[in-house]
Amino acid sequence: MKSLFVPSAIAALAIVAAALQDDANLEYKSLHHRAPRPQASGSTSSTTPVTLPPPSSANTGAPSTSVSPPLTSTPPPQSTSYSFSLASTNPTAVPLSLITASQSSFPTLPLASTATVGAIPTFISGAPALPNPATISPANYPALDKPPPTDSALVQQWKEEVANSGVSIPDHAPTNPGGCLNNTAIASDPNRCWWTCTGCQDSKDITQCPDPLSWGLTYDDGPGYYTSNLLQYLDEKALKSTFFVVGSRAISFPATLQAQYMGQHQIAVHTWSHPPLTTLSNDEIIAELGWTKKVIKDVLGVTPNMMRPPFGDIDNRVRAISLAMGLTPVIWTRNAGSTFDTDDFNIHNGVTPVQKVLQNWQNILGSASTLDHGFIVLEHDLFQESVEVATGYILPDALAHNPPFKIQPVVSCLGRSLGDGYIETNNNKTNPPPNVSAGGAPAASDGDATKSGAGRQNPLNFMVVSTLIVGVSGFALGLLAMLRV
Ligand SMILES: *[C@@H]1O[C@H](CO)[C@@H](O)[C@H](O)[C@H]1NC(C)=O
Ligand SMILES: *[C@@H]1O[C@H](CO)[C@@H](O)[C@H](O)[C@H]1NC(C)=O
Ligand SMILES: *[C@@H]1O[C@H](CO)[C@@H](O)[C@H](O)[C@H]1NC(C)=O
Repeated sequence: MKSLFVPSAIAALAIVAAALQDDANLEYKSLHHRAPRPQASGSTSSTTPVTLPPPSSANTGAPSTSVSPPLTSTPPPQSTSYSFSLASTNPTAVPLSLITASQSSFPTLPLASTATVGAIPTFISGAPALPNPATISPANYPALDKPPPTDSALVQQWKEEVANSGVSIPDHAPTNPGGCLNNTAIASDPNRCWWTCTGCQDSKDITQCPDPLSWGLTYDDGPGYYTSNLLQYLDEKALKSTFFVVGSRAISFPATLQAQYMGQHQIAVHTWSHPPLTTLSNDEIIAELGWTKKVIKDVLGVTPNMMRPPFGDIDNRVRAISLAMGLTPVIWTRNAGSTFDTDDFNIHNGVTPVQKVLQNWQNILGSASTLDHGFIVLEHDLFQESVEVATGYILPDALAHNPPFKIQPVVSCLGRSLGDGYIETNNNKTNPPPNVSAGGAPAASDGDATKSGAGRQNPLNFMVVSTLIVGVSGFALGLLAMLRV
């Protein structure tokens, strides 16, 4: 039997955190100081508190504001008691009490030096030399973090490619803002197969790894200031990940993106401006995905062939457009109503305490132990807090897991080479592109969605609904904070 819980014989670090949320909320509203704050009441920890590095204003690349202002009045979750145990933590982990929305900026670490102009990625057969990131001029791209215009020549060209792809795009209207709750008829329509609302998935969606104990490691929304810190930890532990890149961030951090790629991580498409895709028109979806494919190709020389919809917001229309553009959707695992979402993103927004994120992580491990296949978890590298919880707690705990996990990029957990993660280097024989279907039939259509989603449709999951709503506003607010330098 696969036990995913730590045997008590292992020197397990038990942490029981009873966080008084109202106090925590008040605290971050009123205290903008750098001094370590006391550990949440009731918690015990055997980690060695780190000596805080000096403030990072002189550190290149780090945000110059030291404290993110409180950005949301969303009340924290009702539960005030969290309990989890970790098999191991990083001895230099930032103490949990400091991982809050209002923490000081910590220094960012330098990038590995392997990404130089003209370097050949020898780990991918047939990959072109690395472009010069200095040639990336923001003036040649749409405005950052806004839905790109749909009337440009390039978007017209991509529309034509989609129209000629042989993939039939279902004639569905965009969803209303407000997620499943504001779209009840659409949400329950099996022809829509709206994952967000019901967990419905298509046979082409990637939501898990085939092998038990295999974890397709993923981080979303970067590259950002703290991606380099995550990369350094991954390097130390010889771990490789998949990164779902926001096109606008690739403009802001091209050197980081090159370091991720040259570090043999998988680079994949998120979107240009991180909208919930089901709310967009076909042309807007094409523009979001097309510009993200293009900027990644301009920075790396290769184009990803996987995408993740922001907030997991995907239905048959979004699926078909993605597949027509050569992008296979990757979401994250759901099992018996529990989603493999750490909610690490919402620490930065002051919505979710780090203790809750670690409890989510423990719940994910417990759920994973019941699976006869591997899994994919939602985590983020855009913000300091989520990088700290990944490198300090989640990854060390996963590495100490017994039986061991096989932690790898999504393309690798599927048994494919890293080169199969890019359109130009993909082996089209063994891994046919999603917009080329063997029988000439459309790659996605209304009809086949329920078939493959059989047994996977959950009743409307209102927690997921609220996550989408909180997530959309949280992303905008968090980004605002990061960009306010
Ligand atoms: C599939 O998508 C790729 C990438 O967009 C494109 O180059 C190719 O022409 C498409 N193939 C078909 C059959 O549409
Ligand atoms: C629900 O949808 C309607 C129609 O698009 C829109 O006007 C309204 O703002 C939406 N409500 C919420 C809560 O988003
Ligand atoms: C696979 O097909 C794509 C076009 O869709 C092409 O760009 C690529 O070079 C092909 N892969 C290989 C290894 O030739």
